[in-house]
Amino acid sequence: MKNSFPKEFLWGGATAANQCEGAWNVDGRGPTVFDYITSGSHTRPRIFTRKQEPGVHYPNRQAIHHYERYEEDIRLFAEMGFKSYRMSLSWTRFFPKGDEVEANPLGIEHYRKVFVLCGELGIEPIVTLNHFEMPLYLVEEYHGWSNPIVIEFFINYVRVVFDAYKDLVKYWLTFNEINMMTLPFGSLLAGKKLEDGVSFISMKEETSEEKTLRFQALHHQFIASARAVNLGRMIHDGFQFGCMMNGMMYYPYTSHPDDVLETQKRTNIGNFLCADVQVRGSYPGFAKRYFLENDIKIEQGEKDEQILKNGTVDFYAFSYYASNCISVDPSINKMTGNFSMGIQNPHLKASDWGWVVDPTGLRVYLNMVYDRYQIPIMIVENGLGAVDEVSEDGHVHDDYRIDYMRLHIQQMAEAIKDGVDLIGFTPWGCIDLVSAGTGEMKKRYGMIYVDNDDMGEGTGNRIRKDSFYWYKKVIESNGAHLE
Ligand code: BG6
Repeated sequence: MKNSFPKEFLWGGATAANQCEGAWNVDGRGPTVFDYITSGSHTRPRIFTRKQEPGVHYPNRQAIHHYERYEEDIRLFAEMGFKSYRMSLSWTRFFPKGDEVEANPLGIEHYRKVFVLCGELGIEPIVTLNHFEMPLYLVEEYHGWSNPIVIEFFINYVRVVFDAYKDLVKYWLTFNEINMMTLPFGSLLAGKKLEDGVSFISMKEETSEEKTLRFQALHHQFIASARAVNLGRMIHDGFQFGCMMNGMMYYPYTSHPDDVLETQKRTNIGNFLCADVQVRGSYPGFAKRYFLENDIKIEQGEKDEQILKNGTVDFYAFSYYASNCISVDPSINKMTGNFSMGIQNPHLKASDWGWVVDPTGLRVYLNMVYDRYQIPIMIVENGLGAVDEVSEDGHVHDDYRIDYMRLHIQQMAEAIKDGVDLIGFTPWGCIDLVSAGTGEMKKRYGMIYVDNDDMGEGTGNRIRKDSFYWYKKVIESNGAHLE
């Protein structure tokens, strides 16, 4: 294939602290909401519970022990040829409760070692400041992001981080998939009372008070993000900041104008609302109408408008797994895709977890976003969650994953030819880790197999899958070798 990837293209992989580190109470780390979320499955939702009854398993507490094994893991990434590693920081390693003034030196030291190692291996870290990571104490004591005081705690945390790593890290993402807060899904992080037994992914209808709480929390995250960007630029003018969206790609289910209009509305609220605020620096007009129609009343501080304007990002980052269709007919609506509401596309096949595989949708999405914002783009998550088996020969033959990746990389190349300024690709869960949605280990994305099962049992050994060797060649050839 003719090579269309720029020379400096950031090939790499992505993880998140709470899904891979484990060591939940080691070296002074405090608990997060995720440490109290049980394992689930495709059909059994994960729930928040503090009742540690027999049989209840909290998979994020051990995850894949990346905290202890980071060196081995990052060396494997280097062997694959990674130019970048997207990872996140665990807030409670720095501030165990979240509201302390002084940071935990052991937390600072840990990530310093990680970044120094990346530097030695020629890997550029791309660091998410907040990947679904909420100190439990801040939710229980302050009602999470619904309370503006949490912005101050967050800024205190990022100041420590920027000061500590300003010479080691250039690329920062503020909030992972911030646009998830536009879905009822976001309520746990929004600061809703943490009742025992509440489902992690709740898509239940909400009252207008609940919606207000969620969008108020989102507003506070916007302010926190903009202030972090501003602060970061004062600390180091070489920092590059990105927003991070869940790439919700929607198609109208039919060509009926009502379906088309509804799809546009969904795209506006699900995708563009958050990106407009973070890239353009203000709420779009359609948001105001949406708030009015849904009786959502957000309180904004006097300086908020200016803060948003001053804190716009340099690049657009997003995750892309699947696309969904939208219909105004409630009888055919059902949930599919990456936590988002939509209907399965009759023209496409889905993964074992019901996520529709749509490489062309990635090209469409890239073009749509680039046309709108005209800033560099990074795909910071993409991949196939699948069951992998270790064969008798000791290898993992994951041709299906190679096929998925090949088709998506081909579409990335097409989008670059279309004129899209794509600067990086970090496929998700480059090493197997705990699924965010289901808490399973068996939903594997990695190019490195981790010998742990859903209950965390196993040797934890790392095995290079066939996709490991394949992706290594892709990187070596800068995207030319896809066979
Ligand atoms: C993204 C999240 O939405 O999807 C990740 O940023 C998550 O944290 C990924 O792991 C895949 O979802 P899941 O539910 O298969 O882990």
